Amino acid sequence: MKREIRICSDKEELGLSAGRLIYSLAESSIKKKGSFFLVLSGGKTPERLYRFLARPRPALRIEWKSVYVFWGDERYVPRDRPESNYRMAFDSLLSKVPLPAENIFPIPTQKDSVEESASAYDRTLKQFFKKRNPAGTIPPLPEFDLILLGIGKDGHTASLFPGNPLSGGRGRWVMPVEAPPGYAVHKRITMTLPSINNAIRVIFLVSGEEKREVLEKILMEKALFLEKEKTIHEEKTTSTYPARLVRPRERLILFTDIKLR
Ligand code: 6PG
Repeated sequence: MKREIRICSDKEELGLSAGRLIYSLAESSIKKKGSFFLVLSGGKTPERLYRFLARPRPALRIEWKSVYVFWGDERYVPRDRPESNYRMAFDSLLSKVPLPAENIFPIPTQKDSVEESASAYDRTLKQFFKKRNPAGTIPPLPEFDLILLGIGKDGHTASLFPGNPLSGGRGRWVMPVEAPPGYAVHKRITMTLPSINNAIRVIFLVSGEEKREVLEKILMEKALFLEKEKTIHEEKTTSTYPARLVRPRERLILFTDIKLR
């Protein structure tokens, strides 16, 4: 897996440069296989990026009819609530581009429980990939072309929090989780770490000095990890930062406006 760090001058440039990369990844994926399976991140950082992607830039226009959009996690709130990751993406991007409604797969949060919401999304993803699997069966894991992720100050990513399970067991692709105290919304639905790691590429979007400490620790820890040559298993049990365990199949790119030392 190729790892890249791209230091941007500010949030604006972070959005622009990540957007340009996403355009080119979408273009090559659509040229190669006729589709682009994109998983959106929640939180605030991606909003500028989504607004950039929504700009009518003819030179960089994405063939939206071939793009399929999913979410890596969602807060268990109605879609019209400001905390909803779907609402942020809809307001900043999905309402502004010609993406067919049938290509948009929000995490359902109107189910009677967060468990039912997670199971429903798990089924939706499995049906989506079964339909596109030449073998006609549900593959072991989903294969997204690109997953966008943020990193929290505690090192969480999507809604995989330190100390919480990182996989739902029993072949689960999506699971319900409880965010730690201090988070606006406790009940959440998240893709599991194995689902994320089966993606071809992941882009981390990390902005703001308040993330410096955790980002440097994650990058430093990775260096320590490489020196100690730990096995992946050991890393899983010893890691305090779920974000550090993200390792997609081909490419991991970090876009940040933090001037790393
Ligand atoms: C969520 C996100 C979460 C987010 C990080 C960073 O639903 O909150 O999926 O993982 O990406 O907390 O959030 P900011 O971009 O707001 O700092």
